[in-house]
Amino acid sequence: MKKILIFIFGRQSKIFKYFSILRNSYKTLKKILPLIKIDKFKFILKIIKGHNYAEFQIDLDKEKKYFEKKYQFNYDDWFSHNINIWKMYLNRLKEIRYLEIGSFEGRSAVFVGELDNIKEITCVDTFEGSDELNEINFDLVYKNCSQNLNKLKIPYKLIKDTSHNFFKINSYKFNVIYIDGSHFYEDVKKDFINSMNCLEEGGILICDDFYWFFYEKIEQNPIGAILECYESYKKNLDILFINHQIIFKKLKTI
Ligand SMILES: C[S@@+](CC[C@H](N)C(=O)[O-])C[C@H]1O[C@@H](n2cnc3c(N)ncnc32)[C@H](O)[C@@H]1O
Repeated sequence: MKKILIFIFGRQSKIFKYFSILRNSYKTLKKILPLIKIDKFKFILKIIKGHNYAEFQIDLDKEKKYFEKKYQFNYDDWFSHNINIWKMYLNRLKEIRYLEIGSFEGRSAVFVGELDNIKEITCVDTFEGSDELNEINFDLVYKNCSQNLNKLKIPYKLIKDTSHNFFKINSYKFNVIYIDGSHFYEDVKKDFINSMNCLEEGGILICDDFYWFFYEKIEQNPIGAILECYESYKKNLDILFINHQIIFKKLKTI
């Protein structure tokens, strides 16, 4: 079917895009719906909307090239496909005080660091990798990250430690937090809970790899922790967007 549609209408045709949205939504829902215990209908709509957004989003090539020319990256780009959606939510904020768990070479950090409304950045990374990140020279990753952050024109902190240790001593509040460190269930759960404690009301929480299934048991992946935390914090969280990342807004407590 897919091949026939591409042959007749072309990959960029609306009809092919709608077909992809339906197919991708079906595949996603089949896999993750059994894990969702509350707000199923809300999730279904957001998941379809997310696939629709991803299919029709504008080309990111120009910005990708801009960041690659200005900064030093030696490894894969896991971030640039998020640029449009991040801009949509982050540009609306008056100012950004940003915390990032998992910076790697600093792609997401320098993107946020160049936004007009950014005030300060805190990056936390062990620079030791995780279960899925091996055969990587983390001395080089650390060097690239430090040098990339150094090119920013705003104050930043780069903390070489686990997120767990960072949260133990942190007393700052942030209004945008990105969780992209360890992707194992227990760690994501800790990062989520700790982030909620230092995220301002009205702030944005972004969790990466909502649709990423590396660990054998599906619930050991980020999605297991994120859904469990959503159930606990439901009253304080609004779901803004779902695709490979899930984006929440922390609501005001009445
Ligand atoms: C997927 S990468 C981050 C990608 C990055 N956000 C980007 O835009 O390219 C995950 C990073 O999390 C770090 N990490 C893994 N476990 C961690 C932990 N417990 N605390 C802090 N960072 C951790 C790894 O060293 C790695 O650099």
